[in-house]
Order: sequence, then structure tokens, then C-alpha cells
Amino acid sequence: MTRHRRLRVAVVFGGRSTEHAISCISAGSVLRALDRDTFEVVPVGITREGRWVLTADEPDRLQISAGVMPEVADTEGALVLSGDPTNRELVVTKPGEVPRTLGDVDVVFPLLHGPFGEDGTIQGLLELAGVPYVGSGVLGSAAAMDKAVAKTLLAAAGLAQAPYVVVTDRQWIADASTALAQVRDRLTLPVFVKPARAGSSVGITKVKEWADLEPAVVVAREHDPKVVVEAGLVGREIECGVLDREDGSGPEASVCAEITVRGDHEFYDFAAKYLDAVTQLDVPADLPPAVGERVRAAACVAFDALGCEDYARVDFFVTDEGQVFVNEVNTIPGFTPISMFPRMWQASGLEYPALVERLIRGALRKRRGLR
Ligand SMILES: Nc1ncnc2c1ncn2[C@@H]1O[C@H](COP(=O)(O)OP(=O)(O)O)[C@@H](O)[C@H]1O
Ligand SMILES: [Mg+2]
Repeated sequence: MTRHRRLRVAVVFGGRSTEHAISCISAGSVLRALDRDTFEVVPVGITREGRWVLTADEPDRLQISAGVMPEVADTEGALVLSGDPTNRELVVTKPGEVPRTLGDVDVVFPLLHGPFGEDGTIQGLLELAGVPYVGSGVLGSAAAMDKAVAKTLLAAAGLAQAPYVVVTDRQWIADASTALAQVRDRLTLPVFVKPARAGSSVGITKVKEWADLEPAVVVAREHDPKVVVEAGLVGREIECGVLDREDGSGPEASVCAEITVRGDHEFYDFAAKYLDAVTQLDVPADLPPAVGERVRAAACVAFDALGCEDYARVDFFVTDEGQVFVNEVNTIPGFTPISMFPRMWQASGLEYPALVERLIRGALRKRRGLR
């Protein structure tokens, strides 16, 4: 195996999900933070269509400029990482040219939010290729991505969640009206209708009248044929960062943060997340210490329950009575310096560049499950 003086880190970003642009911004931030004396960086872009391309190592192009969101441009040629573990090379091909290789990659940092990145798919490719990578493996990624599967595992771990009903594709196709009746029988309004696997609030509808349930299921099904319907909770939206400890002794939690959505948004929807300046982020959250401790403990339980590795952001609802309900676990949370996950760790004493380096070193140290 080739030895590099500097560690060669492939940062993979963009991708086919609706969070393409956010992923580019996350990657730009990580590229900017990586110390080039220690790391050699290979920026690997994935276009919205799913094409892999080698991009320039220019973090400044991966930020919002003049109101335009960044994206991975489709260029000639392709970048190939083969699933062959005896060959960890990234190969660049151009039509009519002899393929050239970028050499062995030491570690991959996937920064793909949402489907085709945060869901175990790229993790599976990297497992096949035998390349160490940052973040949860196939199982943890897939379990956290699928809200129906995640709920089953989180409940088994004893965590409180909103009451919910899953509507599978088979149920819907066989008998949609029975499926709808089941939701009405088991839950009270308002309900949140969600694709099982999506992100950034896409495909999610808050339903306040039963007449709106069916169209909301249809919308969710445009993203995933499996749909989760949840009772709406009234509470504060609290998030917590989790990191695997460096000595391998298990996860630890950051300080908590709070999201408050203002203006006329009914909930923390796509526009509130990325487009409008209506969202207030408080880091750390102003919570009674005992409640904050419960959230932090629950975040670590959720992390372990889903088989997460390295890092994750766990999102909660906390009622005025201090009840803690887990909402979801994000295995590749937003990673810009103003994103919640890095900010919560910064407020816990870990600066952004140190956080990035800790994740990369952790990935290199880690023993993956199978041999
Ligand atoms: N059960 C619920 N009760 C109240 N609000 C909810 C509920 N579920 C979702 N929401 C609102 O919708 C937003 C997006 O839902 P979430 O499950 O986090 O989806 P995503 O994975 O797309 O982020 C949440 O941040 C919250 O504002
Ligand atoms: Mg969410």
C-alpha cells in the first residue's frame, strides 16, 4: 500500500438529494477548515444527476454568492471509485484519454445530506471498496434515514416519541381508505405527514383537518412510497450533538440548542430552514439544567439504539412540563460553521477545525465490523 506523507482525504458532496446545495456549502466549510500541511484534499462532487466529478479545491466556490446557491457543475469526464478493495484508487476518465489515477484515498468524508448519501448507500460502496470513512455505517445510516424503522428502534430503547402510524405502499395500494381510517382512529389532529425517507422537510405536510389527510399522503408518497403520520406535538424544538469519544468508550453529547421559527411558517419547513431569515437558533438552549441533562442522555441512547457511529445530531421536542420526545436522528447533519451541529460543539469547547480533524482521525482509527 502506498504511504502518503499527508493524509489523503476525499470530501464527497453535492448529490442527488434536495439538499444538494446545502451539501456543497457543508463541503466548502470542511475544505476550508482542513489544514493542508496535514491533509491532501480531493474534492469529489456528485452532480444532481448522480455523476461523480473531480472538482477544484476552491472552497470559495462552494458558498452562496449573490443569492445563488452553489452546485456541482457537470464537467466532461468522470471519477470512479471501484468497489474493489484491492484497489482504493480514484480514477479520472475523460473521453478519448487514458484514465489517470488520483492514487489511494486514506479516508472519505461523505457530506451528502439526505437520500443517496445519508442513508447507507454510499457507505455500502465505501465498505465494498475497503476505504475508511467518516460517520455511521450502512446500518446506522439506513436506520436513521427511515423514520418508520427509526421509531421502532427508538421505542425499543425506551425513548418517548409522538404517537404515529406507518402507511406502507402495500397498504395504500390495497386499500387506501382503510389506511386513512386507521390514521383517523389512532391519532388526533393536527398530524404531520412525512415521507419515511426524505429530509429538509420536503414532502412534509401539517394536516389540521381530516379532509387534507389524503392529499398530504399523496404528496409524501411522491418522495417515498412509505409514509409516516405523526401526532403533532406542542413543544420547543431542541437539538443535541453526539460524538463518539476518542477512547472508544461510547458517545458523548454536546450542549443543547433551540430552534424557534418565527413569521408565518406553521413549522420548521424547507423555506424556514434555508430561505427565509425567520429562524432563530439559540446555542446553548435556555433549558432547566435537569431537562438539558435528560435531552443529552436521550441523545446518546438514540445514537446507540440506531447503531450510529462517529457523529450525529439528535432532534427533540420538549414540552413546557419538561417531557422529552425524540423526533429524528441525522447522521450527516448540516456542517457549515453556522450549522447547529458544529455550533453546539463549539459551544461545548470544540472548535470547527478541531471537530473536523477529530472526525477524520476517528474514522482512521475505527475498526469496521466485518473482516
Ligand atoms: N410530531 C410533530 N409535532 C410537531 N411538529 C413536528 C412534528 N413532526 C415534525 N414537525 C415539524 O416539522 C419539521 C420537520 O420534520 P422532521 O421530522 O424533522 O423532518 P426532516 O427529516 O425533513 O427534518 C420539524 O422540525 C418540526 O418543525
Ligand atoms: Mg428535522
